[in-house]
Amino acid sequence: MIIAIDGPAGAGKSTVAKILAKKLGFLYIDTGAMYRALTLKVLERNIPINDEPRIIQLSQGVKIDLRDNLDGPLTVILDGEDVSLAIRKARITRFVSDVAKIKQVRQVLVKMQRKFGQKRNCVLDGRDIGTVVFPRAQKKFFIDASAGVRVKRRFQELIGLGQKVTENEVAKDLTNRDKIDSTRQASPLRQAPEAIYIDTTDLSIEQVVEKMFNLCKLSRT
Ligand code: DC
Repeated sequence: MIIAIDGPAGAGKSTVAKILAKKLGFLYIDTGAMYRALTLKVLERNIPINDEPRIIQLSQGVKIDLRDNLDGPLTVILDGEDVSLAIRKARITRFVSDVAKIKQVRQVLVKMQRKFGQKRNCVLDGRDIGTVVFPRAQKKFFIDASAGVRVKRRFQELIGLGQKVTENEVAKDLTNRDKIDSTRQASPLRQAPEAIYIDTTDLSIEQVVEKMFNLCKLSRT
């Protein structure tokens, strides 16, 4: 069974996706982490962010592994190295949408995501899971929240990771990424027609997870 979770940055997708996966005994796949890992590699190699041919070439040789530690954060392995913390840095966040908008890069990463999903029951979160990666997913959700709440949540998350950011910087970054992610030509952020829309603005994490869990249980029976 595949559960697809899409939505804009900071809506709380990854938090609820991870808890939901654990409750269901499914593997959790954070597809945003994969785009972030590739972006890290692009920046480490000093490849200019607009050099699409080199970024495409790099994406074709990269190896990204995700290890779902049940009680801790997801471990992201890039070419054998643990990059779980490095991919959350502001520099990666600033450029990741520019890497993710490249069609040929998406083709490579989508292929990896489908491979993960073929092996086990999975919960995947991202921007194009229900529309492109797994259009036949048994359950699809679109998780949203007001812009103000999304900024606050992302700000708290980054402070929790020990990063020095201001709410203003986070707001700018979210607006910029939402714009690129939803207006790009290659699989832009869209709600799949059959996806269940959940506005999490006034809901706690537990309430969102409960709602999703009950809906998933219904489709399994
Ligand atoms: O969910 P996140 O903030 O970690 O995602 C990082 C970026 O990756 C996001 O700005 C858009 C891109 N992304 C994407 O284009 N498609 C996905 N399936 C997941 C993420």
